[in-house]
Amino acid sequence: TAERTLVLVKPDGVSRGLAGAILARVEAKGYQLAELKLLTATREVLEQHYAEHEGKPFYEPLLEFMLSGPVIAAVFEGERVIEGFRSLAGATDPTTAAPGTIRGDFGRDWGLKVQQNLVHGSDSPESAEREIGIWFGA
Ligand code: CMP
Repeated sequence: TAERTLVLVKPDGVSRGLAGAILARVEAKGYQLAELKLLTATREVLEQHYAEHEGKPFYEPLLEFMLSGPVIAAVFEGERVIEGFRSLAGATDPTTAAPGTIRGDFGRDWGLKVQQNLVHGSDSPESAEREIGIWFGA
């Protein structure tokens, strides 16, 4: 059955000029772009988006990083797009993410307290609907 997922191109992806290349990979895999915007996140949106990470050591650095510049928020649609995008994104740590993935090809450790890993993708249908609501409204 067709699903939707929330994709974010994080501030490192936008500032490095990789937004188009990243979105192109998702489109080239065959997923359909359904929503797209460039915006600077607010602390309120990020606190909702990252609620499950509150209290973790990387939580504050993560919010600081996500507030450091504009991001792209997008919704992609397709059969199994949630796992398909996560496979395309690669492992969380860009240093060891497999070559051929977005994080593995474009990312590395830049010495900060947070993984600057270029993209976010929802991890379940429930997360996707929750996150799409946060970034795009109900
Ligand atoms: P994301 O998929 O957006 O979800 C949580 C984010 O926190 C993750 O991508 C990384 O950017 C960051 N993150 C997750 N785990 C760690 C970690 N162990 N150390 C630093 N940053 C992390």
